[in-house]
Amino acid sequence: MTLVWTTNRKCTSKVEYGASADDLSQVAISVRHGLIDANTTLHKITVSGLRPGTTYHYRVMSTEIVEFRPYRVKYGGTVEKRGEFTTLDTDKERFSFCVLNDRHDRVPALRQALGSIQWQGVDMVVGLGDMMNDPMSEEQIFRNFINPCTEFFAGRIPLIMVRGNHETRGLLARSLIDYFPNPSGRHFYYSFDHGGVHFVVLDCGEDKSDTSPEYSGLAAFENYLQEQTRWLEEELRSSAFRNARFRVCLVHIPPVSYREEDDAKFIRPGWIRKNWNPMLNQAGLDLMISGHTHRYAEFPPDETRAFPLVVGGTNTVIRVDVSPEKLQLTTFKDDGSVLSRPPEVPRRK
Ligand SMILES: [Fe+2]
Repeated sequence: MTLVWTTNRKCTSKVEYGASADDLSQVAISVRHGLIDANTTLHKITVSGLRPGTTYHYRVMSTEIVEFRPYRVKYGGTVEKRGEFTTLDTDKERFSFCVLNDRHDRVPALRQALGSIQWQGVDMVVGLGDMMNDPMSEEQIFRNFINPCTEFFAGRIPLIMVRGNHETRGLLARSLIDYFPNPSGRHFYYSFDHGGVHFVVLDCGEDKSDTSPEYSGLAAFENYLQEQTRWLEEELRSSAFRNARFRVCLVHIPPVSYREEDDAKFIRPGWIRKNWNPMLNQAGLDLMISGHTHRYAEFPPDETRAFPLVVGGTNTVIRVDVSPEKLQLTTFKDDGSVLSRPPEVPRRK
């Protein structure tokens, strides 16, 4: 579990944790090449060696660094915040997860959506891309996305971040991973398991080609996507993928053209259809969830796709209730009313 937080003054930090609020006897810190992270306002500490499906209590602690000089560091006060989390568990029988996408800095709607979720049984929340508009400052990331999440769940329930094309833009695009760490540690594609589901998170990159004038020569997604494709090949052969009860792919841009006349400019849907769909078809993917189009849609399997695809809208919460037999999807509007109940995804025989 990785805990991320900020302070308004430069600090050094640690996480104390344990089995109960009275037993925080274990300590985690962040060390890089022999040096404990210090004199920073962004704090990111990974707690490892945890047991699956176990609730831990924690206390994050940040101590101000008033003066930071060789052989002389003067500390100020310490602030702390307590909470608890439960680790993921491959063997868990049932759980639910919720997917939100394309919130684009719209905080009141995001807060309404999060406020209408029935949290019972929800073990994780997926931010499926474009949760922010081109992140330009740390303040924007926290105010428009992380803080509303923390208010409703993110201090105790993991937030799974999937990068959207807008998150590849803006001043903070290059340090975004510091705010949204994932198991890969270095890029935005990765996989993980919980409750019989193997999740494959893919990173679609930008929606237009690298040479588009919009990117001023600073996009190099073609190579990155090739590298990712090689990783995906391995990933789809892994025993974790093959032996899971369900295999779910999360990717921001869906492999469907919304308007065919746009395909020449917006190349990514066609790229994914051509490069990733055949691999996912062959590997037996059960479900793909995407966003990006700003229009809610359900696509049954077709000649390009052997798996169903559900595309979230700008004001939807897709809830997936996972049991050993099936994935049961329900799509809610932000006010908590039901927009749709897509066909259930039964477990393959
Ligand atoms: Fe998008």
